Amino acid sequence: MNYNNWQISLKDSDRYDLNNIENYIKTSGFEALKKALSMNPDAIVESIKKSGLRGRGGAGFPTGMKQSFTKRSCDNCNQIYVVCNADEGEPGTFKDRYIMEKNPYIVIEGMTIAAYAVGATKGFIYIRGEYEKSIQSMQHAIMVCYQHNLLGQNILQGSFSFDLEIYIGAGSYLCGEELTLIESLEGKRGYPRIKPPFPAEKGLWNKPTLINNVETFSHIPFIITNGSEVYASIGTSESKGTKLFCVSGNVKQPGVYELPLGITLRELIYEVCGGMEANYEFKGALIGGAAGTFVDVTFLDVPLAYETLKEKGATLGSGAVMVLDNTTNLKGLLSNILEFFKHESCGKCVPCRIGTTILYEHSKNISNVDINWMLQQAEYMAKNSLCPLGQSPILPIKSFSKYFNN
Ligand SMILES: Cc1cc2nc3c(=O)[nH]c(=O)nc-3n(C[C@H](O)[C@H](O)[C@H](O)COP(=O)(O)O)c2cc1C
Ligand code: SF4
Repeated sequence: MNYNNWQISLKDSDRYDLNNIENYIKTSGFEALKKALSMNPDAIVESIKKSGLRGRGGAGFPTGMKQSFTKRSCDNCNQIYVVCNADEGEPGTFKDRYIMEKNPYIVIEGMTIAAYAVGATKGFIYIRGEYEKSIQSMQHAIMVCYQHNLLGQNILQGSFSFDLEIYIGAGSYLCGEELTLIESLEGKRGYPRIKPPFPAEKGLWNKPTLINNVETFSHIPFIITNGSEVYASIGTSESKGTKLFCVSGNVKQPGVYELPLGITLRELIYEVCGGMEANYEFKGALIGGAAGTFVDVTFLDVPLAYETLKEKGATLGSGAVMVLDNTTNLKGLLSNILEFFKHESCGKCVPCRIGTTILYEHSKNISNVDINWMLQQAEYMAKNSLCPLGQSPILPIKSFSKYFNN
């Protein structure tokens, strides 16, 4: 397979400097926006639904459905917001940064089309503070778009207006969770809100809010330009389009790769990444980051897609693929993950605040780890915690216990 043919988020970014708007326009940039502005907004939402695009932030929720929920919630409301989640805090994940630095205009174009489709006039990109280069490239692109009448009042001399600004986060993992991000965007401390209501109903300043990941927005121009059928022809039955995989570990060529969903772990490691480094043997992978799942060698030929991984109790999550080898200290890695959750727990509710602490403290004693006891604690936490962070440690613990507890 020629893997280079599959480029949506990173289209033309290896040939041109797409931080230069002239290059972006030369490679059909903003053609999708022009086309979208001549369409009925409902037809755009239908097209996104038909394409099968699912959110790339981790949960894989259907994007078109989220757009229609947001629209439906605005019954005579005077404002809808669009928010781009560029907090990218999941360990092992470095794809949104790559898109923002290599192809910033595609994110703006995708957000503007989405805003037009749902009837929003104001948008925010919430970028983690550590991403200085991403902040710079997005700030520059926004400024240039205002100069070219691609943002602001009466975009491209039409009747649609959309303002976009950047908000810089302060490095909290929890602020990547959509409702916590919204609290932070409102200027409050990053504590989660109880769901429901979801952001589509009551989001930023209690207004209907469409929140999507950077990579999700970057797929919208392709769908508008090429049509939902072309997009839906890429990938598997329930996982359409491409995905950016962030491969780390002892492979010959680690990095970010955009590939069709459904590629197998074997193809990813041995063809795309050139195989394992000399003297390292593939043992498994941690897919989806800290809030992801461990898999072993039996997963080498399982397609990396939402449904196929789910069938086997695993998750695709953010697309992080940490390759584990014969030298990896697996218990040490699990302990590291639990330390991360302990550090990132906001402390608002007892099961998570105490649970993440005891899980980490127990895991430090590597020679005497009782994984079944840990699993019990993680289950209790998952049932009784207020937000999804408290429901996350069970994923790596359960999968570790299934594949590597020997
Ligand atoms: C603890 C936690 C952290 C999260 N961090 C991120 C993040 O950094 N980036 C992101 O896009 N989604 C993150 N999410 C998922 C968001 O809550 C939300 O599902 C996503 O922004 C929706 O966009 P999508 O539909 O395009 O995937 C996180 C979720 C949780 C529970
Ligand atoms: S589950 Fe954890 S992160 Fe979420 S509110 Fe409770 S203490 Fe905070």
